Amino acid sequence: MILPITAYGDPVLRAKAAEISPDYPKLKELIDNMYETMYAASGVGLAAPQVGLSIRLFVVDATPMSEDEDLTPTEAKTLKAFKKVFINPTIVEESGKEWDFNEGCLSIPDIREDVSRKSALKITYQDEDFKTHTEVYDGISARIIQHEYDHIEGVLFTDKLSPFKKRILKGKLLNISKGKIKVSYKMRFPNV
Ligand code: NI
Repeated sequence: MILPITAYGDPVLRAKAAEISPDYPKLKELIDNMYETMYAASGVGLAAPQVGLSIRLFVVDATPMSEDEDLTPTEAKTLKAFKKVFINPTIVEESGKEWDFNEGCLSIPDIREDVSRKSALKITYQDEDFKTHTEVYDGISARIIQHEYDHIEGVLFTDKLSPFKKRILKGKLLNISKGKIKVSYKMRFPNV
């Protein structure tokens, strides 16, 4: 089932999300629905607050990005295989040089900006069966995780822009919260 995606301005996108336990109701169904919702909106990552749930869960599938011609064969292969559910994740360490990558967000349609973040990270999380993993990521995979992880911390990529950029985008962001935007997927706007 495709769920409406929460738009910029909704308080759920600003809350620090809570951990869940294995008895969380209909978890498998929620994960399926989140994938379906993400694919329908052509996204590569979707966090639970973006479907209105303040819980520490996000899904990623970077397969569409693996076809980018600028990628090295190794990067392309990594991204193609990068489909995963992260439950109760904690980024334990970020390392490497900061680099710019052009980010967008399904909750903030039509805005894309370069965001600077560290290149690598170590993350501990649980999978769908609540088995704990600790893994290291870099490049675009790390970038997708950082963006989605921010969502469960109540942070949006626009928060990371310069004061000047923020001022320029202010009106556009307000319009998004009011639903004054054309978007090809189902959304829920807080200020309509
Ligand atoms: Ni996002």
